[in-house]
Amino acid sequence: MKKRLYLDWNATAPVLPTVQEAMIEALSKTPGNASSIHREGQAARAVVERARRSVAEAIGAPPQAVVITGGATESNNQVLRDHIRVTDDPFVTCTSVEHPSVLEVVAGFESRGVKTALWPVDAQGRLSLEWLEEKLKEGVTLVSVMWANNEVGNIFDVARIAELVHRSGALLHVDGTQALGRIPLNFQDSTVDFLTLSFHKMGGPKGIGATVIREGLKVGAILDGGHQERGRRPGTENVPAAAGLNAAARAVVEEGARWNESLVRGKEAFVETLLKAVDDVELRGDLERQLPNTVNAAFAEVDGEDLLLALDLEGISASSGSACTAGSLEPSHVILAMGFDEQQARQSVRFSFGPSTPEEELVRAAEQIGDIVRRLRELNASF
Ligand SMILES: Cc1ncc(COP(=O)(O)O)c(C=O)c1O
Repeated sequence: MKKRLYLDWNATAPVLPTVQEAMIEALSKTPGNASSIHREGQAARAVVERARRSVAEAIGAPPQAVVITGGATESNNQVLRDHIRVTDDPFVTCTSVEHPSVLEVVAGFESRGVKTALWPVDAQGRLSLEWLEEKLKEGVTLVSVMWANNEVGNIFDVARIAELVHRSGALLHVDGTQALGRIPLNFQDSTVDFLTLSFHKMGGPKGIGATVIREGLKVGAILDGGHQERGRRPGTENVPAAAGLNAAARAVVEEGARWNESLVRGKEAFVETLLKAVDDVELRGDLERQLPNTVNAAFAEVDGEDLLLALDLEGISASSGSACTAGSLEPSHVILAMGFDEQQARQSVRFSFGPSTPEEELVRAAEQIGDIVRRLRELNASF
């Protein structure tokens, strides 16, 4: 069988060996409920609390700030929904390139009569701080922005945004899911009010994440029926996933800096080879401030879906970064928000990799992509 190369880490990453070991061990050796007072219960509690401390260390936050949840979709819903529940006259803004777990919640607010505004981006997917300043003057109460975008990899200037938001007395929610383990991310220094996280894009388990809450602020639960996580996330704790979360967070603490360097090198090699291998390729996003593991490329005259299928046959898994509905790919809302039309949006292909992706395989993949693009162009020209 052909050896495969997985270039879709922004969808989800292969689980780290240390995560897998920790989860298997917890599954077989930690049978208790973390809320029980007997020894098995206390052993399970210890696993959960260890995970909380490691997550806190990985992002530079105090452990008591970390609420363990079922992932970033849940955490994003929690922060946004709780804000409109507890705020008088809420006014929520989020960027037009957020993950659907923010965008769709905010769209739902609008249909319920809550004031909302979509923060537009330019053709490189960049945000205008002047736009934000205007909206803050109009009384925005919560700003929701991702630390880094999942489709084009843009990194937003969280520190500067936090400064403006706090000067106006509003609150800032940041979705750090794609930034974690790829670029340095520090909760305390950033002055973010609510940080939401998932660990499965860097080798942690799926279905577990965190809502990190600044001291003095509160976030209520979105579920009823339990006291777990001090009432902020009811439901029996997923102890094996917490064991995996701990291992993933330890890896960020111990390997994060090295991972970043290796991603930077890998991306340089990939992009350099790709640009030599094929003509008429447009790299999308803010090339000055972009994740070191993400490349979004559009190849003239080539449909992204055709390219993805051809790549898959050759053993390379990439993505268009868009939702798959009834077997066909929808154009990416991020690329559309950047002002491209549907056809241009359908040309975008996202390549995302991790620190364990060998550099020589990235180079080989870029050459192969070049060959396939040329073949598809010849095919298209012959019709
Ligand atoms: C930026 C961003 N936020 C949130 C999510 C959702 O995370 P989860 O899969 O943990 O619900 C994703 C994953 O697709 C993402 O890329």
